[in-house]
Amino acid sequence: MTLEIRTVGIIGAGQMGSGIAHVSALAGLDVVLNDVTTDRINTSLATINGTLARQVAKGTITEADRQAALTRVKGTPDAAGLGDCDLVIEAATESETVKVKIYGQVCPHLKPSAILATNTSSISITRLAAATDRPEKFIGIHFMNPVPVMQLVELIRGIATEDSTFDAARVYCGRLDKTIAVSEDFPAFIVNRILLPMINEAIYTLYEGVGTVESIDTAMKLGANHPMGPLQLADFIGLDTCLSIMQVLHEGLADSKYRPCPLLVKYVEAGWLGRKVKRGFYDYR
Ligand code: CAA
Repeated sequence: MTLEIRTVGIIGAGQMGSGIAHVSALAGLDVVLNDVTTDRINTSLATINGTLARQVAKGTITEADRQAALTRVKGTPDAAGLGDCDLVIEAATESETVKVKIYGQVCPHLKPSAILATNTSSISITRLAAATDRPEKFIGIHFMNPVPVMQLVELIRGIATEDSTFDAARVYCGRLDKTIAVSEDFPAFIVNRILLPMINEAIYTLYEGVGTVESIDTAMKLGANHPMGPLQLADFIGLDTCLSIMQVLHEGLADSKYRPCPLLVKYVEAGWLGRKVKRGFYDYR
């Protein structure tokens, strides 16, 4: 029988976690948002509130929808607060070490029936599942950024994921009105396997002096009809995340065509991580 998801826990109140909380609450689900500090949770709640207010102003939702969604989201810095959740989605930093540490802290507090999902953009679901107490109830639910706007969610089974877990995740995505693409558990799945090498190549194009930041982005926006140029998109995703995904591809597929561009490495080393720190290929200060 498919587990009905009523309460969703989200670990990590960053860009992705905030978006997942937003769409889950708008879909009528109760949301528990967990992060290490109340400051981070409050920033996330303010972001969700701001995006909901924009949607009201544009007429895509009503003021009553906004109020109802806001009352459904509760924040907690304590992992024990996730104890009533039917589904917990980890949307922490794209680091295997960080994620595994979080699972160790969170799993003892979860209901035995709870499904644990990761929003990882590239790391092996099977390997992450093996670090939990519930590999059969573990799955990849990979949202795209910005979550409220992007239609797609990738669903990725690990080797031990049970059909009932997959079905519950599929029903949850349907409730959010998202379209799913099922991917096998290979490095970076489908979207990032294709998207990130394109972004990395754009960075090589800059590194080799083929074009400027502006000419590369204009070329791809107007020449290939992409909504954002690849360098603007890299800043939007976060250059640290882009680098992590390229490293997973490079190590996981052992092919030099996935070598991260040295300029990407240098920007990350400089702390120029893109829009979130106001500096990346563009200066947002
Ligand atoms: N949160 C919520 N809504 C947002 C938003 C955000 N962060 N940013 C924009 N929007 C909404 C706007 O409110 C607007 O809504 P309406 O249509 O209802 O008016 C709509 O999106 C369009 O926004 P704008 O008019 O301000 O700007 P735009 O037309 O340039 O669109 C964009 C912005 C939707 C981000 C568009 O540029 C785009 O689609 N970019 C590409 C995004 C993309 O490729 N995402 C995938 C990244 S890869 C990934 O996520 C996987 C991974 O693991 C790394």
